[in-house]
Amino acid sequence: MASICTVDLGLRSYPIDIGAGLLSAIGPRCIDEGLTGRALVVMDEGVSDVYGPTVRQSLDAAGIKVLDIVIPAGEQSKSHTQLIRIYDAALEAGLERSSFLLALGGGVVGDLTGYAAATYLRGVPFVQVPTTLLAMVDSAVGGKTGINMPQGKNLIGAFHQPALVIADTPCLRSLPVREFSAGLAEVVKYGMIADPALWDVLEQVSLEELLADDDLLETIVLRSCEIKADVVQRDEREGGLRAILNFGHTLGHAIEQVAGYGEWLHGEAISIGMIYAARLSEEVQGFPPAETERLIQLLDHLKLPTEFPDLSWDGLMKAMKLDKKRKAGAIGFVLANHPGDVAFGCPVPDEVLAKVWERTVS
Ligand SMILES: NC(=O)c1ccc[n+]([C@@H]2O[C@H](COP(=O)([O-])OP(=O)(O)OC[C@H]3O[C@@H](n4cnc5c(N)ncnc54)[C@H](O)[C@@H]3O)[C@@H](O)[C@H]2O)c1
Ligand SMILES: [Zn+2]
Repeated sequence: MASICTVDLGLRSYPIDIGAGLLSAIGPRCIDEGLTGRALVVMDEGVSDVYGPTVRQSLDAAGIKVLDIVIPAGEQSKSHTQLIRIYDAALEAGLERSSFLLALGGGVVGDLTGYAAATYLRGVPFVQVPTTLLAMVDSAVGGKTGINMPQGKNLIGAFHQPALVIADTPCLRSLPVREFSAGLAEVVKYGMIADPALWDVLEQVSLEELLADDDLLETIVLRSCEIKADVVQRDEREGGLRAILNFGHTLGHAIEQVAGYGEWLHGEAISIGMIYAARLSEEVQGFPPAETERLIQLLDHLKLPTEFPDLSWDGLMKAMKLDKKRKAGAIGFVLANHPGDVAFGCPVPDEVLAKVWERTVS
């Protein structure tokens, strides 16, 4: 039995279906949601052969005419080059406003396809079919779409909510384990910002047991989506509260950038960023040190890095300041009082940032 989580945004509301075996029922689900025109399926090359045919067949059988395009795997595909390829394919096929785009893959293909859908003919509907854990619990939900520029990540984009999200959890079994672990960092984050019961669940299973258990996968994806949906419903355009989704991300983004994109997976950098944010929280909010130790043990158990990298503090500080400047208004850290209870926009003096870093690396 699949679960459904609804993102309640008035006219832009949509369901997230989560469960096993959902790929083969995509066609009828699209029809249910009023998506009856033609579909352009945008597939990551890492999944096109494995899952593409099932998706195609299901759409075909439901009477939806399908075209597809394969996008090279990797962050460098969140680019103008791939965006233009999608526009070209859509134009060549004569896709109209009644058509829709469908993203099959991880966050790269989801963000890229979402942005193409936001802009093609001034906006057409799109369906997210996430195949990585990070995409299932994070990037496919919430409507942030975009591409990168040589100057930085996600600098061009739009808010464009999907019409439907379908997370077929057994797809995670073909994912490299390192990518699965990286996605779990975001699940740990949801535990910290809203529901420590997620930590209890993750503490009790090994990665192998978790991957083999459809019910458990459904539980953690569902709970993560519910938490993200709740935050997005209250602050769709990141006016304030949505910032809590960035727990651990201020330093995490800086690590990704200073180490050079591609060195660290996003979730790996967030693992270190969360430990740092917990240490800052001890200093500033009285977060219990025993809970930081618990967090570190959990991340280690999930095969995420917990040792601070040998990177220059000056470089990291510079990257954090630039990141904050770009998000005008959202200055400040997300800090925790307790697991499940965080505050955003917390100012932390530079000396405290440096002191906690030094204490943690040494
Ligand atoms: N829009 C948002 O709110 C949001 C939130 C977080 C992250 N993001 C973005 O998400 C992107 C990262 O997404 P990601 O971590 O999913 O990476 P990704 O899309 O690059 O996928 C990771 C790798 O896994 C492969 N893959 C995907 N599914 C697979 C499967 N089931 N089996 C085997 N291989 C599979 C892909 O080919 C790729 O090599 C970044 O660009 C980031 O900026 C967006
Ligand atoms: Zn993240």
